[in-house]
Amino acid sequence: MDKIEIIGGTPLQGTVQISGAKNAALPLLAASILVQGAVDYTNIPDLMDIKSIKLLLQDLGATIESNGSQCRINASPINKIEAEYDLVRKMRASILVLGPLVARFGRARVSLPGGCAIGARPVDLHLKGLEALGAKISIEHGYIEATTDDKLIGNEFYFDIPTVTGTENLMMAATLAKGTTILRNCAREPEITALADALNKMGADVIGAGTAVIRINGIGTDSLNPSLKSASIHVIPDRIEAGTFMVAAAATNGDVLIQGAEPEHIGGIINKLRQSGASVEITQDGIRVKGAEKIKSTDIKTLPYPGFPTDMQAQFMVLMSIAEGNSVVHETIFENRFIHVNELQRMGADISISGNYAMVRGVKNLSGAQVMASDLRASASLVIAGLVAKGSTTINRVYHIDRGYESIEKKFLTLGANIRRC
Ligand code: EPZ
Repeated sequence: MDKIEIIGGTPLQGTVQISGAKNAALPLLAASILVQGAVDYTNIPDLMDIKSIKLLLQDLGATIESNGSQCRINASPINKIEAEYDLVRKMRASILVLGPLVARFGRARVSLPGGCAIGARPVDLHLKGLEALGAKISIEHGYIEATTDDKLIGNEFYFDIPTVTGTENLMMAATLAKGTTILRNCAREPEITALADALNKMGADVIGAGTAVIRINGIGTDSLNPSLKSASIHVIPDRIEAGTFMVAAAATNGDVLIQGAEPEHIGGIINKLRQSGASVEITQDGIRVKGAEKIKSTDIKTLPYPGFPTDMQAQFMVLMSIAEGNSVVHETIFENRFIHVNELQRMGADISISGNYAMVRGVKNLSGAQVMASDLRASASLVIAGLVAKGSTTINRVYHIDRGYESIEKKFLTLGANIRRC
């Protein structure tokens, strides 16, 4: 079982290149199901979750040719509409094949994704949305069965909560429906806009992505066997990877140039980093982050985009754990997203939790320790903690990190960190 060992105390210096976004690539790859023909992708990140969804698509019958960060997916040969438990349990975002499968084939059988460390992660809104489009949904033996007599039928649907993958699933399903669908209270993340842009390149008609109301004029009315068409899709940069390196630069009092990130996508993160005293400069070459001698305590509240992202909460908490003064961290998206707190406390952080609030009292420094990775972003926060702590930190169960960060230790090594995988 891989571990990462870090000797802390080195300010990060240099340039780091941001990879393609995991949470953009996953729906984009699932969208290939809607296409009769090949879809070419570039800037696909090399991550465990990407490997998982490729395995799932191949299991359904798609052909995939991969070459580094490029791949070609042809879903024409798909002859199976079942996403099996063993594949879905490894990566719950596999639920993203549900909408495309039922839209294209009129039926789908997808294992219910279980919860995960950060929460129950229900998919009820995905299912209610598909029912609004005319799908019959049943749940038997841990599987979602979705069927339609003919095609999905365009309709209006209001999300109780702005769900990211729920918005993506319904947007994809509606592209092949008969008539127009209007989705309301949609999530507005950049990954949703990127998916809409890709669907439109494939011949769909999606308007309003990035706002709370998305209109999809389905092509189902025009042809018996509707499908989208081949296209070339470039994956947008990973705003959470960028934010993770920016917080690490600030926490180690370093000076790092983040290349390849999209400043427009990380306004919430930049805002809070500047409030904490870090210097964040947007230049032609990239985003330059310089740490401050004194880190100011800064409250954060996680919110749907464009608010401060929940996927950055754990990382920012590490910065606050060595700030001057007390900071309040309010997690409003997931019910159990403080798993990293116990491990940070073992490294000397002074944090107390009350419900979905954490009070972080800044300490002079953290001390290295043996710690356990749990969920993806909590694990990234432990890497940052190891980089700032005095002494040696060993992070166990590193596979959690590999799900969402491409060669994280190599990238930190190029920034001068004393870090190695063992
Ligand atoms: C996406 O998850 C991301 N994953 C998550 O990133 C991210 O944390 C999350 O959005 C919030 O930004 C991908 O894009 C693959 P949601 P998703 O549906 O879509 C509730 C990472 O680390 N909800 O927006 O599953 C839900 O319980 C991962 O990269 C329902 O109640 O999140 C949560 O409280 C972690 N019913 C809230 O909505 C539903 O049907 C937001 O969840 C769906 C969601």
